[in-house]
Amino acid sequence: MPAIREPAWAQTVRFAARPDLFMERYHERFGDVFRAKIRGFGTGRNVFVADPRMIEQVFKGSPSALRLGEMAGIAVEPIAGPTALLNLDEDAHLKRRKLVLPPFHGERMLKYTSITAEAADRSLRTWPTDQAFAMRPHMANITTEVVMRAVFGVEDGKRQHELSHAVLNLIGTDLLGTLTLTFPQLRRNFGASRGWTKIQHNKEIADRLVYEEIRARRSAPDLADREDILSMLLQTELSDADIHDNLLEMLVAGHETTATALSWAFDLILHEPAVLRRLQDELAAGDESYLTAVVQEVLRLRPVVVTAQRVIRQPIELGDYHFAPGITLFCSIWMVNRRPDLYEDPLRFHPERFLDTRPGTYEWIPFGGGVRRCIGANFAPMEMRTVIKHVLTHATLEAASPALEKPRNKVVLMAPKNGTMVISRGRS
Ligand code: HEM
Repeated sequence: MPAIREPAWAQTVRFAARPDLFMERYHERFGDVFRAKIRGFGTGRNVFVADPRMIEQVFKGSPSALRLGEMAGIAVEPIAGPTALLNLDEDAHLKRRKLVLPPFHGERMLKYTSITAEAADRSLRTWPTDQAFAMRPHMANITTEVVMRAVFGVEDGKRQHELSHAVLNLIGTDLLGTLTLTFPQLRRNFGASRGWTKIQHNKEIADRLVYEEIRARRSAPDLADREDILSMLLQTELSDADIHDNLLEMLVAGHETTATALSWAFDLILHEPAVLRRLQDELAAGDESYLTAVVQEVLRLRPVVVTAQRVIRQPIELGDYHFAPGITLFCSIWMVNRRPDLYEDPLRFHPERFLDTRPGTYEWIPFGGGVRRCIGANFAPMEMRTVIKHVLTHATLEAASPALEKPRNKVVLMAPKNGTMVISRGRS
C-alpha cells in the first residue's frame, strides 16, 4: 500500500489546515487507499480510504473490530461527559443508540419544522439591507434556537439565552482549549482564563444549568405530552447523568455542523442563478422535490465533516487488504462524494442529479454510516430545507462576491472562509 513519506508533523499540520486539499493531493498521487501518519487523530497510524465498496465493509463491519468511541471520546468526554454516544463502543453504544434515536423519527419532525421556520423568521428580521454581511453567525443563531426549543424544550426567552450562552461558551473554546481537547497531555493549568482551566470552569456553569433543566422537567405535569427531545428521553430508562451527556452531545454535534452546511447552501445557491430561479419557482408552486435535491447536492459537494473514522482493534480484511489492530481508518467522505465514476461532472453544483435518483447509501456519505451513522441525518436536512425555503421566499438575496467561498478548517468542520458574504435587497 502506498504511503506518504513526509514527516508526521508535516502531514499533521497540512491535514489540520486543509484536510480537503490533503485528501485530493494524495488521492491523485496514490489512488483510493494510502497510508499516512497524523498525530492527534486516532492512533497516529492512519489509512485513508476513498473506495465506496471498502467503506461499505467498514460501515457494516463488526463494532468490536472497528471502533469510534475510544478516539472520539477523547475530545467529546470533557465537553459532554462519559456516556455521550460518541464516547461509547460496542454493546453500550448500541443500547444507548436505541434509546436516543426514536425522538428523531416520524411525525415529530413536523413540529420541529415550525420551530425552525419561526427561528429563521426571527433571524431574518435582524439582517441588514443593501450591505454585505456574513450568513454564518445568523445561521448559528437559528440552529441554536432550534436546539434550545426542539431538543431542550426551553421556550422562555431569558432561560434560552442563559442556557445557550453557557453551553456555547463551553464549546466555543480558544485555540489552546481546542488543542487541549485533541492532545490530553495539554490538560494543565496555563492560567484561569485559558485552555483546560477555562473549559472546566465553563463546564461547571453549563452542567449546573443543564441539570436544573432536567430536574425541573422531570416534575413537569405535562411531561408525557411534550414533544421536545429532553422530555422524550426523560420517559426512558436513562438517568439524569445519561440524559445530560446526550443533550450536550446533540448540541455539540448538531449546532455548528448544520449552521455551516446552511452557509454552504446559500453560497452555492446564490452563485448558480439557474438553480436559484428553479428553486424559487418550484417553491412558489408548492413543490419541494427540487428543494430536497438541492440540500442533498449541497451535502454532497460541501460535506462539512470530511472524514469518518474507525480504530481497528481486531485483524480485518477490507477489499484486497489485510489490516492489523492499531490502525485508524479515515473514510474519505470528501473524496467519495466527488468521485467522477459515481457523479457526472462531480464538481458542478447540479441538484438535478438527485431529482430521479436517491443518494446511494455508501456513495453519498455526509452523515457517515452503519451503526455510527449521524443521529441527526433526518433532523439536519429538515432544518436546512426549512431555513432555505423560508429565507428564499421572504428575502431577496445576492452573493456579495462573484467567487465561491474557499473552505477553511474550523476545528473539525470545513466552513466557508468568509462565512458566506451576502447582500439582502429587502424582505417580504
Ligand atoms: C449537516 C449537519 C450534520 C452533519 C454533516 C453531521 C455529520 C456527522 C458525521 C459524519 C458523523 C459520524 C458518522 C460516522 O462516523 O459514521 C456524525 C455523528 C453524530 N452526529 Fe451528526 N451531523 C450533522 C448534524 C447533527 C445533528 C443535528 C445532531 C443531533 C441533533 C447530530 C448528532 C450526532 C451524533 C450524536 C453522532 C454520533 C453517532 C454515534 O456515534 O452513534 N449531528 N454526524
